[in-house]
Amino acid sequence: MPDLRQALVVRPAGPLAGTVAINGAKNSALKLMAASLLAPGIHTLHNVPAITDVGFMGQLLESMGCSVSTAGSTVTIDVPGDISPVAPYELVEQFRASIAVLGPLLGRCGTAQVALPGGDDFGPRPIDMHLRGLETLGAVFSTAHGYITGQADNLLGERVLLEFPSVGATENIMMAATLAKGVTTIENAAREPEIGDLAAYLGRMGATISGAGTATIVIEGVEQLSAVDHTVVPDRIEAATYLAAVAIAGGELTLAGARPDHMDMLIQKLGDMGMRISPDPDGLWAYVGSRLRSQDVSTLPYPGLATDYKPFLVAMLCLADGVGIVTENLFSGRFRYVDELKRMGADIRTEGHHAVVRGVPRLSGAPVKAHDIRAGAALVVAALAADGETVITESQHIDRGYEDIVGNLRAVGADIERVQIR
Ligand code: EPU
Repeated sequence: MPDLRQALVVRPAGPLAGTVAINGAKNSALKLMAASLLAPGIHTLHNVPAITDVGFMGQLLESMGCSVSTAGSTVTIDVPGDISPVAPYELVEQFRASIAVLGPLLGRCGTAQVALPGGDDFGPRPIDMHLRGLETLGAVFSTAHGYITGQADNLLGERVLLEFPSVGATENIMMAATLAKGVTTIENAAREPEIGDLAAYLGRMGATISGAGTATIVIEGVEQLSAVDHTVVPDRIEAATYLAAVAIAGGELTLAGARPDHMDMLIQKLGDMGMRISPDPDGLWAYVGSRLRSQDVSTLPYPGLATDYKPFLVAMLCLADGVGIVTENLFSGRFRYVDELKRMGADIRTEGHHAVVRGVPRLSGAPVKAHDIRAGAALVVAALAADGETVITESQHIDRGYEDIVGNLRAVGADIERVQIR
């Protein structure tokens, strides 16, 4: 369990220099682990980040009867012939991605009982599109005592039209459809790189999937799948975090293993702000030699600017020259960290889905709180240009998504440490 008494202390330390190795993507690894439920046998996933959420997903799979072991960044999941298709509340409440077991359980067992995941700090997180899509394939759901129970004796391929390109709904429907009878077509599907990674993994397991990465994904159901090895795609959100770090502290960083082709829109936006970024044989190279220029920012599903990048972009705008208007189009409540940035001297006004950020030359270190993974990481990068000391409490949220943000930033010259607090 995470240690709730830890905090991160950050002091300004001038420009950064060096290399940060980017880990496998949290939002892919968690779904691949869930997808392993579709086939009995020994699955081996490489490049899995050592983060708390991966630990929780491992515990969830173990509660269903799997054996999960970790050696470095390799996670081995031994999925038995019989699994218990129940995701208990104690684990589901720990991490939202647990809902990704719903599709695999229905596909594999024809039944699933999953605790309702509840909201997030940045707003409600409904699963209506997941359920509607799975119902289209023939599942029947009922809710009682905080659990949703799904029954699907015979999943049949169908056309599923998503109201919004939801990442989680696309994944759940895709996973269930691999073992349905006939052809499923998901229209208005999410196009995130992590969806492509899931399709690649399922394809290796024997699924027939085409169109992943486009708005129409076609899945031809097969009788059974088998356990395989797979390497998780690099984490574009982690890479964005370190880009924001160099944007704010200045200097030069190489992000080893990053995939620039997964971050096109972000790289274009950061270029407009005055950053120099180019592909590197190792991944990505970034340089910032002077104060950045403000730009407007609007979040959209991939290939648009990811909502997960937004806290970092807001942190950058806090210190950039000029005014930037930020519009959040995915999660209505995703501005809570703004109050924390204001405690550090940022000039931000929020109104509904919008924030107006006026750049100031320096921030000022203060005690602040990490409300969620990305919000917490944004406070870390903002603190790199805050005079004095910034103490970020509730840093366990950051550990849910970052393997070693402290070690990585220290290695490139940042002054950051983890401390115990009373
Ligand atoms: N939505 C519904 N009904 C649904 C599903 C989604 O109304 O059934 C709405 C959501 O409320 C939201 C929008 O659709 O307004 C997009 O949600 P989506 O389903 O695409 O998001 P998700 O699958 O729940 C994943 C990532 C998030 C990331 C979003 C958007 C994981 C575990 N999480 O969430 O990442 O912000 O996609 O790209 O993959 C994070 O990593 O910290 C994180 C929150």
